[in-house]
Amino acid sequence: MWLPLLVVALVLILVYRWHRQKQILENLSDKYVLITGCDTGLGNVLAKQLDRHGMRVLAACLTEKGAEDLKKETSSRLQTAIVDISDSQSVSSAVEWVTRIVGDAGLWGLVNNAGTIVPAAPIGWLKKEDYARVLNINLLGTVDVTLKLLPLVRRARGRIIIVSSILGRLSVFGGGYALSKFGLEAFGDSLRRELSSFGVKVSIVEPGAFKTSIISSPAFEGLAQIWKNLPAEIKESYGEQYYKKFAQTFQALADAGNSTFYKATDCMEHALTACHPWTRYSAGWDAKLYFIPLSYLPTCISDLLTSVYLPKPYRRVE
Ligand SMILES: NC(=O)c1ccc[n+]([C@@H]2O[C@H](COP(=O)([O-])OP(=O)(O)OC[C@H]3O[C@@H](n4cnc5c(N)ncnc54)[C@H](OP(=O)(O)O)[C@@H]3O)[C@@H](O)[C@H]2O)c1
Repeated sequence: MWLPLLVVALVLILVYRWHRQKQILENLSDKYVLITGCDTGLGNVLAKQLDRHGMRVLAACLTEKGAEDLKKETSSRLQTAIVDISDSQSVSSAVEWVTRIVGDAGLWGLVNNAGTIVPAAPIGWLKKEDYARVLNINLLGTVDVTLKLLPLVRRARGRIIIVSSILGRLSVFGGGYALSKFGLEAFGDSLRRELSSFGVKVSIVEPGAFKTSIISSPAFEGLAQIWKNLPAEIKESYGEQYYKKFAQTFQALADAGNSTFYKATDCMEHALTACHPWTRYSAGWDAKLYFIPLSYLPTCISDLLTSVYLPKPYRRVE
């Protein structure tokens, strides 16, 4: 008796949800969107995608070369600027540039995409400066850009997208990356709650592993250097096998990464263009089926499952 009713209710909820998510805003060609970290990877793909779909993209690149290459592949609508989000002066100049362009209309979209993972290594091998580097870019850089652009986004009653990670839900290895992404999740949540009264919508995007430069081999080349420079006592405690397995695990993660970047950029585009954007998007099957569910399980289970692929130190307590 109850089962058919439950099935009907579930189907109705799914149809309602599908219908809601399909409603897209009109007049997208009037809307300006600033994306950080457009030189490569997801930011680069998103800039080209939104440009193709007629939006006015303001692409913040870290390097001149990244900006020049992007301009060659996009329409004259897309404009670029060189912005280092960890440098307050650079962010302030970018805000002046955006203010001049968008005028009274304000800024419709801000996509906080720029980020780094380097250095990533076991916690006991790192120094405070290693953490500071990543937090300064991923977390404080994003906070700086958002705070300075907030008046323009409020004026447009626009959207703020924060590119977090599945590592913002489950911390597995050392380095500032997961810390920065957990921090961004907190920032995004409080920002969404505060700004909803101003008509500004905030979405957090949590991609799984994608084969961009952030997880490619060069990103982990620094690991060999960190291992080489470790004091003898630390090297003996962890053992060479630990280093090798740690590096292999990362290589395997990079090799298994998703090459279909649109799975992540479509989430970002939906958050910018849908009438009813979601508060959270997970991109990629690894995120949806493994990392996010694992993050909800009791810690003893997630510890057990992650210990399967993490290395064991040589001088360990059995
Ligand atoms: N790929 C994944 O598996 C994955 C998974 C989860 C989340 N994400 C997130 O997705 C976002 C985009 O990463 P991606 O995968 O596309 O990697 P990516 O290709 O390395 O893109 C990151 C971009 O940010 C730029 N950047 C680094 N430091 C910067 C700074 N201080 N100021 C401005 N720009 C800076 C990088 O420039 P340079 O290359 O010149 O350093 C690069 O163009 C990041 O926030 C990342 O954490 C990625």
